[in-house]
Amino acid sequence: MQLDLFSIENGEEQQIDALRKELADANYRYYVLSQPVLSDKEFDDKLRRLQDLEAKHPEMADPDSPTQRVGSDLTAKSGFRQMEHKYPMLSLANTYSEDEIRSWYQRVCKDISYEPEIVCELKYDGLSISLWYENGALTHALTRGDGTRGDDVIDNVKTIPSIPWKIDNTNVGESQNADRGGKHNQPDLFHILTPSAVPLSTFEIRGEILLPWKNFERLNREREEQEEPLFANPRNAASGTLKLQDPRIVAQRGLDAYLYYLLADNLPSDTHYGCLEIANKMGFHVSDAMRVCHSIDEIMAFITYWDTERKNLPVATDGIVLKVNSLQLQKQLGYTAKTPRWAIAYKFAAEKQLTLLKKITYQVGRTGVVTPVANLEPVQLSGTIVQRATLHNEDFIRQLGICEGDRVWVEKGGEIIPKITGKEDDGNLKRNDFAKEYRFIEHCPECGALLLRDADQAAWRCPNEDDCPPQQKGRIEHFVARKAMNIDGLGTETIDLFYERGLVRDVADLYDLTATDIMHLEGFQQKATQKILDGIEESKQVSWGRVLFALGIRYVGETTAKKIARRFRSIEALQTASVEQLTEVEDVGGQIAESIRQFFSKEKNLRILGRLRAAGVQLEDQNETPQQQEQLLAGKVIVISGTFEKHSRDEYKEMIEEYGGKNTGSVSKNTDFILAGDNMGPAKLEKAEKLGVRIVSENEFLSMLTTPTL
Ligand code: IVH
Repeated sequence: MQLDLFSIENGEEQQIDALRKELADANYRYYVLSQPVLSDKEFDDKLRRLQDLEAKHPEMADPDSPTQRVGSDLTAKSGFRQMEHKYPMLSLANTYSEDEIRSWYQRVCKDISYEPEIVCELKYDGLSISLWYENGALTHALTRGDGTRGDDVIDNVKTIPSIPWKIDNTNVGESQNADRGGKHNQPDLFHILTPSAVPLSTFEIRGEILLPWKNFERLNREREEQEEPLFANPRNAASGTLKLQDPRIVAQRGLDAYLYYLLADNLPSDTHYGCLEIANKMGFHVSDAMRVCHSIDEIMAFITYWDTERKNLPVATDGIVLKVNSLQLQKQLGYTAKTPRWAIAYKFAAEKQLTLLKKITYQVGRTGVVTPVANLEPVQLSGTIVQRATLHNEDFIRQLGICEGDRVWVEKGGEIIPKITGKEDDGNLKRNDFAKEYRFIEHCPECGALLLRDADQAAWRCPNEDDCPPQQKGRIEHFVARKAMNIDGLGTETIDLFYERGLVRDVADLYDLTATDIMHLEGFQQKATQKILDGIEESKQVSWGRVLFALGIRYVGETTAKKIARRFRSIEALQTASVEQLTEVEDVGGQIAESIRQFFSKEKNLRILGRLRAAGVQLEDQNETPQQQEQLLAGKVIVISGTFEKHSRDEYKEMIEEYGGKNTGSVSKNTDFILAGDNMGPAKLEKAEKLGVRIVSENEFLSMLTTPTL
């Protein structure tokens, strides 16, 4: 009997192993090879069976199990860790002109004195991602960020079924058909390569994260039902999704990824095409619309083919990328400051459509600017349905000479938001009977105040700062933003809801919120409620300089606020400062000084400040020895690189500024030292070594601030 029981359990353990293998293989075949081996139902049944077995055998828990692809809340974090890219994430030179493609090709040929192989690929319109594998395991997934460092969104990326968590190199050596274009009926331009099969285990691979059209449309349908704002296009939706804090929601949205660039110290092939071939065999989703071309005619044929055919693809593309195939030649051609010389992107012409301008409505922004919006008869444009477009301001509308009732051209260029570029030729079409001469509205559509327009500005503005709802909500949004009070969990929609329910009408109201207030609202369970309350509590530690920025005094931006806070060390000192004293601060001119004076002249603001103080918000500098502190890094130019343990990069940046130093982005001969954490970018390291710039560790830096021996 005992033996029986044991053997049943034993059987279950084996089943778990077998199901994991089978499902991982099915994922690979479905998402990477596009050759499903299980029906959706079979897959779901097996996954459920595996989930049940895993629940019964917690001792067999494995973070790499296919069940974890659905996203685990265990990994949910607040905020993402930022990391330095090993190699900067550059963009590509791009053009809409075929002539410029020809000139690029001629230049390349001239530089190397013959016609090199050019790999033509689709340019996927999503978000770039850099995946790091160490000893065969996925360790980081960085967004592009500012090109030198990005957010590590690994928990979210791990929900993407086509991204392997572990690399299986067993296939790499097999000789498979290198044709990546089989199912596309395009001109026969490809070149079959046999890459040398060296298994890779520590490397980086870059590509694009995309939300397929089908999933994008489903998501927007759901959002429409929930009365949530729609995403303008799949790229925005993918970007919003990747930044979510809950990987379970990311998993539900259905992201996909195509990889197009392999980086490693020892690449397994001497061509770009060869590297991608191998990447594909290693289990990565590499596009099969990829060709090695040998002449400009072949390149043009590829462009022409895909300009039409791309409309049938499951994901958004916005052009073609051309890359020199030989890695040796790539090296020879090198880089300009921002882009590689060995590659260029050809962007497909913006799609244009004529449609009816039904009505012009007006939107009041958080600063009171009133923006006219074109409400259009819905049209299909580059795969999305467009029904609204910005008209910017009164002058823009007058320049185009358009009116409600006109038929107008809508275009989607490189930008995300569609724009109106003109009206249908008057010679061809008469304005319809309902068309009226255009006049901008006189009163704020939100609060009814009479609008004002400064003589030197294009925008009409609602002057009712204190009581105009979007402006009130905007001030709250600004207050909670990451660079201000950094209160998590309060997005635009939550603020709107709190505002509509009368819970929060000004920033001081945030500090009166209770768990009961929030939990009474639909959709707020304990966890979300606690997150908001914790964020509010933590914001009481935010430094005076950031609080000053958070107050949203007109023209007082992040850097100016810090400079003012360093000179005026409390709200009282600032309040009693004269215009002359204020303008002594660097960057503060008459306009800013006047705006600060006006801020303090309002009774309402003073009441809010009193309530913030009572709540424990820092309205003064907590440092006791300001003079000494300011001297410590005076005049020092410091570059921050890598990741840190004790403070975030933003905190180090702040410290440098507080102590009188200057934080810059790139290493030069003027750099005094580099504050270096883990994973410092190799490019920076190389430059620092070349210029003899001192490298200071996190601990050394912190002790510098306590013992001033620079
Ligand atoms: S190669 C150094 N290949 O386009 C070259 N980029 O405008 C690295 N993109 O940031 C990029 N499809 O996000 C490359 N097949 C493709 C691409 C591609 C889309 C994106 C990528 C890049 C941007 C440049």
